[in-house]
Amino acid sequence: MTPPQGSGRTWGGVPLTRRRVMLGLAAVGGFLAVDLGAVAWAGGWIDTAHRLTPGSFIKAFAWVNGKQSGFRKNHAKGVAVAGYFDSNGNGRELSSAEVFQPGRTTVVGRFSLSGGNAHAVDAPAAARGLGLAFAFPGGSQWRTAMLNIPVFPDNSPQGFYDRLLASKPSPDTGKPDPKAMAAFLAAHPETAKAMKIIGQNSPSSGFADSTFRSLTTFYFVNESGTRTPVRWALVPLTPPAPVDSSGPNALFDAVVRQIRAAPVQWRLVLTVAGPEDPLDDATLPWPADRRSIDAGTLTLTSIETERAGNARDINFDPLVLPPGIEPSDDPLLSPRSAVYAASYRVRARESDSAPAVIVDQVAP
Ligand code: HEM
Repeated sequence: MTPPQGSGRTWGGVPLTRRRVMLGLAAVGGFLAVDLGAVAWAGGWIDTAHRLTPGSFIKAFAWVNGKQSGFRKNHAKGVAVAGYFDSNGNGRELSSAEVFQPGRTTVVGRFSLSGGNAHAVDAPAAARGLGLAFAFPGGSQWRTAMLNIPVFPDNSPQGFYDRLLASKPSPDTGKPDPKAMAAFLAAHPETAKAMKIIGQNSPSSGFADSTFRSLTTFYFVNESGTRTPVRWALVPLTPPAPVDSSGPNALFDAVVRQIRAAPVQWRLVLTVAGPEDPLDDATLPWPADRRSIDAGTLTLTSIETERAGNARDINFDPLVLPPGIEPSDDPLLSPRSAVYAASYRVRARESDSAPAVIVDQVAP
């Protein structure tokens, strides 16, 4: 089978069914199920980047992973969580966003495993994701999708797309074709460098003791209008728990048991760029000694099987930002937003399939 070409123009043409939109809006109470912001940003992107479109990515995900009906086209395997964020007020120095005023904000989220196979076997080395959506009484929202790796593998949409194609499992081995991956890495030295950094950081034992990072830089704008480039991270307060590595859902089962037993917590740490730090390339780390601010504590109190009305129906679009947080010039941001919206639209009109992680079936 030949890889899909990057010229599809289908991204805006897939309608949401009314049923799914209504369910999504009603049940996630206040969280918009579809992202209008993504549509606006996509316009600026389609004319650039070698004519890659959101439709090209959707085709490529299907070519690599098969259909995966009803699931996210990336980070397909996941579980819904909910809880709250307690701000200590320190973040106000950098941003006027409501989330940094002292007090509590409700949060809906989703733990996920990278990759488009909704029934992949949990592997400690696969990147783990945490999507969070904060909703504020005034109606503004903040959504973020973070990863447990120190840098992102790609710094361009073309790089992401080429890596996706090169990662297609070969039918003989179930693993990517080493020749295709070697050719990809030779053409993308930025990914080869980033993979080295990722390989030097061993993943933690589970979701609850992972550090989840924004990786991408955003501008924080405070009451006086000062714009500061920031990356953020959720740093775990919960100690490692035993993971029974025998089952296909070992990582998810462990975090289900942990949250059932007690809430799990992270500190939200805001890191300020130094004058020479890269602001538009998430493959490049910032030095470890940069100034950081502890902005408060995230507590996750519940965990549920993905279903209509919980985080399954939220698009953790990184461009849904409240006043006080603004996008940087990172060239991944706009394409990412547009591809997430396309993935949302496709999955919302597909028939549902049973997710791999059924929380009620996880043994105590
Ligand atoms: C061009 C670059 C990227 C593309 C094309 C892409 C694509 C996607 C897609 C299609 C989804 C599923 C969206 C949905 O159906 O709701 C997704 C989810 C996700 N992505 Fe990306 N992504 C990109 C970059 C990134 C980066 C830079 C990060 C982290 C910093 C990231 C972290 C995540 C996470 C954590 C999820 C799961 C969120 C959830 O639970 O809904 N991605 N990605």
